[in-house]
Amino acid sequence: MEAHMQGLAKINIHLVTMLLLLIGSLLLCTQVVGADSKHVSIKNKLGSGRNMTLHCQSKDNDLGEHNIGDGDEFGWDFSDNVIGTTLFYCDLGWGNVQEFHFDAYSFGRDHVRCNSGCSWLVSVEGIYGLNGQTGFWEFIYHWPN
Ligand SMILES: *[C@@H]1O[C@H](CO)[C@@H](O)[C@H](O)[C@H]1NC(C)=O
Repeated sequence: MEAHMQGLAKINIHLVTMLLLLIGSLLLCTQVVGADSKHVSIKNKLGSGRNMTLHCQSKDNDLGEHNIGDGDEFGWDFSDNVIGTTLFYCDLGWGNVQEFHFDAYSFGRDHVRCNSGCSWLVSVEGIYGLNGQTGFWEFIYHWPN
């Protein structure tokens, strides 16, 4: 019984080692493949069935104007450029707010703060951004009065 248990324990250690190696290599691959890929998402949390219009662009990309329904979101993937000047800006409208201009991703402000991507929540008070470092939502943009 004792010997049998020891045999099992050995097999278990073997299995654990193999699993760790496997997980380790998977993590490494993911990091290498996805190293510079980031995601921005902007979610409509205006409530009461309110739509918003959103038009985001960078110097090189125009993501088009979109009508985003209550509870829906708009997002895209990108990579930082090598010289660290990546900037995506948006114009947003809902209710009386017209063409509100904000930066959805600005390398200088966000490459650390957002880490793997920037998440935004659009509410009736303004726009909240997720701080990837602290895990807290921060109130970043007030609507103009
Ligand atoms: C929101 O947009 C949808 C279609 O895009 C439209 O059918 C609906 O009437 C809009 N809702 C409001 C409150 O404007």
